[in-house]
Amino acid sequence: MALLNKALVALIGILLAVYFYSGKEEFEPSMLKGKKAIVTGASSGIGEQMAYHLAKMGAHVLITARTEDKLKKVVEKCKKLGAASVYYIPGSMDNMTFAKKIVHEAERLFGGLDMLILNHIGFTYFNFFDGDVDHIRQLLEINFLSYATMTVEALPMLKASGGNIVVVSSFAGKIGLPLTVPYSTTKFALDGFFSSLRMEFYQQKVNVSITLCVLSYIDTDTALSMVSNVVQQPAAPKEECAFEIIKGGVLRKREVYYQYQATKIPMLLRDWAPEFLEYLVLKNYDVEGLSKTKQ
Ligand SMILES: NC(=O)c1ccc[n+]([C@@H]2O[C@H](COP(=O)([O-])OP(=O)(O)OC[C@H]3O[C@@H](n4cnc5c(N)ncnc54)[C@H](OP(=O)(O)O)[C@@H]3O)[C@@H](O)[C@H]2O)c1
Repeated sequence: MALLNKALVALIGILLAVYFYSGKEEFEPSMLKGKKAIVTGASSGIGEQMAYHLAKMGAHVLITARTEDKLKKVVEKCKKLGAASVYYIPGSMDNMTFAKKIVHEAERLFGGLDMLILNHIGFTYFNFFDGDVDHIRQLLEINFLSYATMTVEALPMLKASGGNIVVVSSFAGKIGLPLTVPYSTTKFALDGFFSSLRMEFYQQKVNVSITLCVLSYIDTDTALSMVSNVVQQPAAPKEECAFEIIKGGVLRKREVYYQYQATKIPMLLRDWAPEFLEYLVLKNYDVEGLSKTKQ
């Protein structure tokens, strides 16, 4: 009991130290005024909402995804919301030439770049792993290699501006969740690449921030249609999620946890009580619901 008390006191001390060390957040929407940003996967979901927030804050925005009709609609809305300028380029991120092209177009259109928001994901199934390793390879191209490619291509501009790289990942990129083997694989790859790169930036005094965003279940159409029959947990609002991602990026946070209680708190169990965490995760899944989900 005495040992437990000591451990609790130590834990509270560490939490307080972290709280005071991290300081107060002082985000102002004006921080984004006139900034030049790329948002990938911006034809729907969280990416679309990020484009709207950036537009309201007066940023220059270049958006991309595959579906031109949807991108056009997002562009029109961004104009009405007050974007300094807004452009779209349709294409697929399984093509690294296209991934590079987006960055080159930002350079041509904006003459520089402040924020690279990597958010798109390719289609995958929400079900037990089907043994298809080729699918994992294809998904890695879209969800991971295109992120690395765009980062490399954008680095000269980001170094010049002291800019931000924002990587949208998932709780499934920190903890192996069931029914998401290919997806989880690609999200773990993002953590390895970008967390390692961030350390090298510190060593090399590269003034470019990398923010890895660890998201819980968010109420986008894609997530709701795939997951809602199985996962027994309410989905968080995509508008607020998009705002928190932008805020974390511009404040140069290492990581953003949204929603905090559904991501950061369980993370505390990951290394100390993994079996208990697995038990809690599994309790949240009703695999019987898979039969009701359209794959
Ligand atoms: N929603 C959640 O519950 C949740 C939870 C954790 C993490 N996240 C992360 O949040 C991010 C956004 O998710 P979301 O729910 O907003 O997804 P979403 O609504 O399905 O949006 C995905 C975007 O990626 C684009 N896309 C799909 N395939 C593409 C390809 N081959 N090349 C280029 N773009 C492609 C889609 O547009 P087109 O189809 O027009 O190409 C769309 O704009 C993802 O990184 C996801 O992993 C989401």
